[in-house]
Amino acid sequence: MSTPFTIGTLTLQSKYLLAPMEGVSDVGFRRLCFQNGAGITWTEMVRASGIVRRNKATLDLIDTFDSGTPTGIQLFAVNERELAVALYNLDQLANSTHPHFKNIVAVDLNFGCPSPDIIRTGAGPALLKRVNKMNIMFDKLAHWRKTTTLPIGAIGAKIRLGLNQQEQDHKIYLRLVEPACKHLDYFIVHARNAKQKSSDPVSWNAIKEVKDLAIRQPRTIPIIGNGNVFSAIDAERMTSQTGCDGIMIARAAIANPWVFRELTGHGDAKPTAIEIARAKEEYMAIAQAYTTKQKYLDFHKEGFSRMLSGIQQSVPKSENMQ
Ligand SMILES: Cc1cc2nc3c(=O)[nH]c(=O)nc-3n(C[C@H](O)[C@H](O)[C@H](O)COP(=O)(O)O)c2cc1C
Repeated sequence: MSTPFTIGTLTLQSKYLLAPMEGVSDVGFRRLCFQNGAGITWTEMVRASGIVRRNKATLDLIDTFDSGTPTGIQLFAVNERELAVALYNLDQLANSTHPHFKNIVAVDLNFGCPSPDIIRTGAGPALLKRVNKMNIMFDKLAHWRKTTTLPIGAIGAKIRLGLNQQEQDHKIYLRLVEPACKHLDYFIVHARNAKQKSSDPVSWNAIKEVKDLAIRQPRTIPIIGNGNVFSAIDAERMTSQTGCDGIMIARAAIANPWVFRELTGHGDAKPTAIEIARAKEEYMAIAQAYTTKQKYLDFHKEGFSRMLSGIQQSVPKSENMQ
């Protein structure tokens, strides 16, 4: 049975966290995963520049309408200035035109997006080797957290192991542990470098190295492992091999949102036809209430149908397979 898990000041129902996923992690899907046992959920990656420009399509991604589902926003910022302005704007919007932003309980910084456009600008995984810059961004986030009117319970970051194999071999990710422990409440390690595809092998050993170093810091924080956990057996293996505190789940949740039920020891991963039908109904009602975009509806409707017919859903093509 899963026990409560703490990050920052948030007490979560489990240590299994739903990953931010572009084109997938909308409000209805997040609620379904939470109902099945996910400890916390995140919006998909939201560009700080879009928040600053008050771009409607960007703001629509922050669909944090459901106060019953713990949800963090995942932010992508190219530098500390852009981050600071975006955070300031979040507060402003929450207090004026976007009151549902007040439901945001966590902020996660994305340093894993492998998109060439992002890497070309020196952002995302290209920043991983720039420890001072990363330290400043973590610090900015921590400072904002002290003054924001949003009920932020946890701040953190999601990294890859480097921009490429060379950086991974140099273990640049280990240099980030000290600033992360100093400023953040949790640290998510996707155990691949940014050149690797999701079909490439994961290096769980790097998660262990991060955890071993984190516990030696004056202030330690939970380390969340990510990559290739599809079942309770995988989760046990990752936990015993790495010592990680929590586990982030992405593709397994797309294939089957009930995977959290198995992970948390609350039942079978395989839902009944009635459960799937009810979940679909609830998803559609939420989508209608909050005018979820058609692409999410199409994606999840197909997912429910495939689950009903016992066929595993394929993963959508995303430039953003972080
Ligand atoms: C469709 C899809 C979209 C994704 N979008 C994001 C994203 O917006 N932000 C992010 O940090 N990671 C994103 N990822 C990466 C996942 O969060 C996760 O790190 C990766 O899939 C490895 O976990 P897994 O083995 O459990 O799938 C995405 C992954 C998929 C499959």
